[in-house]
Amino acid sequence: MSSRHPIIIVTGANGGVGYGICQRLLLNLCGDVPEDALPQPEATPGAYQPCDYIPWTKLTLIMACRSAQRAGEARNNLLQFLDEHIAERKRQNSPFSKEMDEFRKNLTIDILLLDLASSQSTLKFCREVSQRYPYISHAIYNAGYAPWNGIDWPLAIWAVLKSIKNAVTYPQYQRQLTGVLSKDQYGLTFQSNVLGHFFITRALKPLMDKSPWPTRVVWTSSLETTYALKYANWDDPQLITCIKPYSMCKFQTQLVAHYLDLESPRTRHFVTHPGVTSTGIFLDQLNIFTSFAMLLAFYIARLLGSVHHPISWINGAIAATHVSLVALPLLNVRKKLVVYGSRATLWGKAYVGGNEMDNYSQYADKAKNLVSYCDELYETQKRRFTEQRS
Ligand SMILES: NC(=O)c1ccc[n+]([C@@H]2O[C@H](COP(=O)([O-])OP(=O)(O)OC[C@H]3O[C@@H](n4cnc5c(N)ncnc54)[C@H](OP(=O)(O)O)[C@@H]3O)[C@@H](O)[C@H]2O)c1
Repeated sequence: MSSRHPIIIVTGANGGVGYGICQRLLLNLCGDVPEDALPQPEATPGAYQPCDYIPWTKLTLIMACRSAQRAGEARNNLLQFLDEHIAERKRQNSPFSKEMDEFRKNLTIDILLLDLASSQSTLKFCREVSQRYPYISHAIYNAGYAPWNGIDWPLAIWAVLKSIKNAVTYPQYQRQLTGVLSKDQYGLTFQSNVLGHFFITRALKPLMDKSPWPTRVVWTSSLETTYALKYANWDDPQLITCIKPYSMCKFQTQLVAHYLDLESPRTRHFVTHPGVTSTGIFLDQLNIFTSFAMLLAFYIARLLGSVHHPISWINGAIAATHVSLVALPLLNVRKKLVVYGSRATLWGKAYVGGNEMDNYSQYADKAKNLVSYCDELYETQKRRFTEQRS
């Protein structure tokens, strides 16, 4: 019994939404009330059905990060966060004190190095996972790279004047770099967001197949897909010539995830997005004044009725943890592509919404081609990796 416990990979777990996902996983699996496993009226309505890994008294969390130092600091902060939570719940005389103590004793948080922009690093990561763990129950593909290249300020100011709510929900004034390549000479945005995670899916399939429960693979998209198709060029799958590669790679993510969901007999693939969350992905572009202005604009958008501004890391994480923990029958059936998004009420309470992408069939061929293309690149890189080791 004790060997059957969730073993969860979170990519990009050291900060932003990825860190929030780890926080929520700890809060939900530690034996306390698992709020993210409850049905969500706007995404997964229905009666509560327990998942058989909740409550559990053991968890292995694999933080897949490209910096050991940043991951180490995040790991310490996570453990402190959990200890404080347990102490607080005990002060409140929680009936689950014993379960929480047992969970804490049996908790393992491992750090494994992963640079998605390097095929060799990604395959090395997969080999290490395969050697160390008996199965993978969840893979949460959160890590992402956005090739921002400054802001088109006149356009940004015009967008804010027209509608501040839309301007900070569907921003189209962020300039994106075109033509940036990784060390492997692949389109960097495509590789960091889509291809690297695809490699993990293929390389860890044997471990996913061994999971005691159908493995859940959670992919991360974005509200940016709303206008991505304006920039689609299906002859450039690596998005090297695309002027909005970030927006388009998130559309690719949805196609690939859904295609794999249809293809995998047991593993399930889901698509989520964190709404608009204040993380390094935006802040790295801004100075102290513009960062503050942006944060203020997020709160104003929420006051004006936007549901897409969870803003904090932990709020932005709710869609990914909900999809990971809610009973499987409440999630979308395979033939539908539903994108689950983190949302928040006016008062900042996080919840999950779901939108069906009802025109997937129009893109089914594109999805198939993209997956075949990723498979070709995977086979090439796997061969190279094996040759280098022998
Ligand atoms: N924030 C939002 O409002 C928003 C909206 C829509 C979608 N998203 C998506 O949500 C996800 C999380 O983003 P975030 O907002 O939390 O951004 P973030 O704060 O910039 O975090 C991104 C994470 O991904 C990691 N990462 C980037 N490139 C990587 C690579 N090549 N290999 C391994 N890890 C890599 C980063 O590692 P380092 O710390 O080493 O850089 C970091 O841990 C992304 O997929 C993003 O596209 C975010």
